[in-house]
Amino acid sequence: MAASGLILVGFLIGHLAGNLIIFGGMDALNAYGAKLRHLGAVLWVVRIGLIVAVVIHIVTSMQLAVENRRARPQGYQMVRHHETTPAARLMVVSGVLVLAYLVYHLLHFTFRVTNPDISHGVDALGRHDIYTMVVHSFQQLPIAFAYVAGMALVCLHLSHGVASGFQTLGLTTERTIPILSWGSRLFALAVFLGYSAIPAAVLLGFVK
Ligand code: HEM
Repeated sequence: MAASGLILVGFLIGHLAGNLIIFGGMDALNAYGAKLRHLGAVLWVVRIGLIVAVVIHIVTSMQLAVENRRARPQGYQMVRHHETTPAARLMVVSGVLVLAYLVYHLLHFTFRVTNPDISHGVDALGRHDIYTMVVHSFQQLPIAFAYVAGMALVCLHLSHGVASGFQTLGLTTERTIPILSWGSRLFALAVFLGYSAIPAAVLLGFVK
């Protein structure tokens, strides 16, 4: 679960770096998209790797939930939380909601079925016009808000998940645990702000 989670974190960083190219303008973003598509077989190897990582992450999280239940089949009479945080207790809920967000996101930008009117354009060089697709999408308030909400869920999930992943892999010591848990929260916040900068910039008219 930890290894697949860290692979997905690697994707999130790479995807954010790619998405931020939007601030370089239409030509830069569409050229980047076209370059990715030209990777052909390599792109498919990465995609299959990502799908496998998502499946492993979901299956192992379900196994963990079952093991936790088996370890204590009888519920507690009174629940008092020590040494835990809302993000840690909400990992399953935030994980399911991130998955729902991801399904919507893929239907929107990858399969282009939710907004076909603005998703199939090509630019002057005949490349898929990703720039216009993203800008026209985020100019619609409900879509921009859905994305920011989705990214907030990703942030909540990462704020506990990253530190927890390092701990599971045995990469922590008593001394580094607090540093890592704060590092994990800061990283999650940076991911949230980085991704949210895109719908925010479109809504504020900086990117149009
Ligand atoms: C502002 C936020 C985001 C923007 C603008 C954005 C943009 C895009 C675009 C344009 C594509 C389609 C690329 C193409 O087929 O040409 C895409 C694909 C994808 N996005 Fe995002 N994305 C955002 C956030 C996220 C987040 C938070 C996640 C993960 C939770 C994510 C996961 C993916 C995945 C898995 C794909 C499919 C990649 C592939 O086809 O190989 N995206 N995104």
